[in-house]
Amino acid sequence: MLRQQDVGYRIVVRRIVGIREGRPLFSDALGELVELSETHLTLSTAQGHLRVPVAQVHRAKRVPPTRRPTAAAVVALERAADEAWPAPTRGQLGDWLLRSAEGWSGRANSALPIGDPDRPLPAAVDAVERWYAEQGQPPIINTPLPLAAPVGAELDARGWAARPPVLVQTTPLPLRPTGTASAARSTTTEQPSADGDTGTATTDGQAGADGQAGADGQAGADGQAGVWSSAVVELASAPSAEWLAAAAGRKGGLPDAARHVLTAVDLVRFAHVYVDGTLVAVGRGTVTGQGRWLGLSLIEVLPAARRQGLAVRVIHELAGWGVSSGATHAFLQVEQHNTAAVALYRRLGFSTHHTYLTRVAPQ
Ligand SMILES: CC(C)(COP(=O)(O)OP(=O)(O)OC[C@H]1O[C@@H](n2cnc3c(N)ncnc32)[C@H](O)[C@@H]1OP(=O)(O)O)[C@@H](O)C(=O)NCCC(=O)NCCS
Repeated sequence: MLRQQDVGYRIVVRRIVGIREGRPLFSDALGELVELSETHLTLSTAQGHLRVPVAQVHRAKRVPPTRRPTAAAVVALERAADEAWPAPTRGQLGDWLLRSAEGWSGRANSALPIGDPDRPLPAAVDAVERWYAEQGQPPIINTPLPLAAPVGAELDARGWAARPPVLVQTTPLPLRPTGTASAARSTTTEQPSADGDTGTATTDGQAGADGQAGADGQAGADGQAGVWSSAVVELASAPSAEWLAAAAGRKGGLPDAARHVLTAVDLVRFAHVYVDGTLVAVGRGTVTGQGRWLGLSLIEVLPAARRQGLAVRVIHELAGWGVSSGATHAFLQVEQHNTAAVALYRRLGFSTHHTYLTRVAPQ
């Protein structure tokens, strides 16, 4: 049977759709598993979403993806993703990348073992350990799979832990239309102050009298839907102070290295959605990989503003900007167990290109 780890993967489900002459009638469905709860599973099929009660499932299993990306495609995408999330301190081990950013984010503080490390594998892992010891950080290696499976086997033998799998998902651009996004409006701020003044929502972006948002972004009961649907997505070439606070997980400041990771990309936009002066949704878009790839990151909506279509609208705005900047495809990285985000991205047409595991050396 299926488990949460299967979310984001292609599966086949045989379900019981009726009984005839005392015998069950079966129907098979093939698609990507977007949600799995105790009572239902949701499949994204070629015909659209299919919600199946677990009680009707006779058998279900994972099946191979339609097309596996080539190793070259995985390497190209991983390099574009590295450019989109640039660690300020970098080293190289042959083709392998060594990255450090004061510990801010797993990706910017891990080695990327793709290509030839210019030495035997055990010596390469030893060198990674030494480099991170010099930075005063724990050694971490991100292993894209199945490309870096041999590295993974070496790390297994050394007792390195594995964090939960991350799905690297892609879709062609432009995004396919979705209902909520069609109503999106936007403004673009070319050079806002980094200290924060991108936050002036236009009149369209203000909550109406019947649906004022509170300081926590929570709208009043009446007119709530109107508040969210009329909020404006602003794209700015620098993050506001509130945007940076959101990226910090609302825990105060970010290290300097984090600011570098977020902003040191030539083509970058920061999406801000304000309702009544409160930042309720954010997102970040970059164009890297020789102009081919729009990278989406830090898509986040305040809990009180969720399921109102704001994330869809943020992503559509960033995608529109990506297309106008020449990008032909979009990618993002999402933890496999983040079912809300996986469902959101599936709805927008994303599917899993490959996965990676973050491997951490034993203490
Ligand atoms: C994931 C997240 C950004 C979604 O934001 P949102 O504004 O609530 O999403 P939307 O309203 O645009 O959702 C669009 C669709 O995505 C899917 N979806 C979104 N949240 C979902 C959830 N919790 N469960 C199942 N499906 C969900 C649904 O199909 C939804 O359409 P519907 O509401 O008509 O059913 C938000 O939950 C969030 O901020 N989570 C924490 C941060 C995070 O995990 N970010 C992603 C990092 S990769």
